[in-house]
Amino acid sequence: MSDYIPVLELAALAPDSSALVTVQGCEVLLCHSGGEVFAVGGRCTHQQEPLVGGRIRRGHISCPLHGARFNLRTGEPVGQLTRIPLSTYQVQVESGMIGVKLD
Ligand code: FES
Repeated sequence: MSDYIPVLELAALAPDSSALVTVQGCEVLLCHSGGEVFAVGGRCTHQQEPLVGGRIRRGHISCPLHGARFNLRTGEPVGQLTRIPLSTYQVQVESGMIGVKLD
C-alpha cells in the first residue's frame, strides 16, 4: 500500500454507506457500492454541501440536499443541477484496510 494512505477499515463501511475522512487536509468521501469502494470529493459540486449520508445506489450517490446524482467511478454528474464532476481518487483495499491515493 506504498502510495496509498490507510484511512478506514473496510469492516467499518457497510454496503451502500459512505464515510467522510480527511486525507492530508483533503475531504474524501468513501462510498461502498456493489462490493467496491470508491473515493470522491466530499462536497457536492452544486452548492458545496456535504455528500456524506447521501443515498448510494448502483454506483451512484445522490446529494442529500437537492438530489444531484454522481457516478462514483467517474465523478460525472447526472442531470441538470450541476455539470461539474466530483474529484475521484484511487482506492486500494489491502488486509481489510481501505487506502486512498491523492494525486
Ligand atoms: S447542494 Fe447538492 S444538489 Fe444542491
